[in-house]
Amino acid sequence: MNVAAIAAMSAPLSPTLRRRLERAARAAAKSSYAPYSGFPVGAAVLTDSGKIFAGCNVENAAYPLGNCAERTAIYAAIAAGERRIRACVVYTPTAAPTMPCGGCRQVINEFGPDALIVSVCDSAQHAETVLSALLPDAFGPANLGQRRQGRKP
Ligand code: THU
Repeated sequence: MNVAAIAAMSAPLSPTLRRRLERAARAAAKSSYAPYSGFPVGAAVLTDSGKIFAGCNVENAAYPLGNCAERTAIYAAIAAGERRIRACVVYTPTAAPTMPCGGCRQVINEFGPDALIVSVCDSAQHAETVLSALLPDAFGPANLGQRRQGRKP
């Protein structure tokens, strides 16, 4: 695990913030629009300004247009002017926790490469990790910066 990931883990969420995020993720799942998969998901992200944004999955009759809960929450945060994600809590009404899909890992990386990721469900099981462990050696904004720096004028 890299140094940034360890630093993120050494600054855990307060129990109060964690409870608020979990409550927001669980509440958001109630708004899920998932008629095709029947798999509701809720997510809540904490930004570096201390605000919480929630989202649910939103499916579409044109299947590929569906949006995951994590991305709905992150896009709400970005639309509100936020740019840094500290933590993301995911809730699914399942017996085991669900981790963010690959696409969502990439989107979380854009705004929170060191974000804490917590997954909760309907049992006492839960998962907790950091984004950099879920998406090691991620492609991100820095890669494009290098390309631009290397470009001839
Ligand atoms: N889904 C999420 O919302 N987040 C994930 O990380 C995994 C999958 C949604 C997408 C789709 O609406 C349903 O779950 C089934 O894949």
